[in-house]
Amino acid sequence: MQVAKEIGGDLLQMAAGVFAGERDPWANAANAAALLFETLPDLNWVGFYFLRGGELVVGPFQGRAACVRIPLGAGVCGAAAKRRETVIIRDVHEFPGHIPCDAASNSELVIPLLAAGRLIGVLDLDSPTIGRSGRPDATLAEALAAKLVAACDWQLAGIDGF
Ligand code: SME
Repeated sequence: MQVAKEIGGDLLQMAAGVFAGERDPWANAANAAALLFETLPDLNWVGFYFLRGGELVVGPFQGRAACVRIPLGAGVCGAAAKRRETVIIRDVHEFPGHIPCDAASNSELVIPLLAAGRLIGVLDLDSPTIGRSGRPDATLAEALAAKLVAACDWQLAGIDGF
């Protein structure tokens, strides 16, 4: 999507601004979700799941109330976490095991958060539009996720492995 190119630099700059001087994971993740939701058009849910107690537990987000716990390997989020790879789903109804949290979601993009080889959690972006997110948005979301990972002290968050 062209939008990623046009606003990508601004988004990353704004993220650097809100993360500056702050190492708290919950604070920075909350601001990251808000920035993504405000900046990227055509999304109905943006937020984080963090690895706590061996499963993904919902963290800061923007959108409707969501399912709280996702086992590794389950749904799009669990798949991205288990594979440690970005997953772009054109149509969630064609993804076996998709976990429907908001009936409005038709496509999904999930980015794993990794720090020095350790899985922290995932960044999840849902859209009502089939085929909404492609490689350009994935690259932008990956860059934002990398900034967030670098900006936080993960030992403050009760995340597995830290
Ligand atoms: N659809 C996700 C679950 C999380 S919500 O979309 C917020 C999945 O299949 O993992």
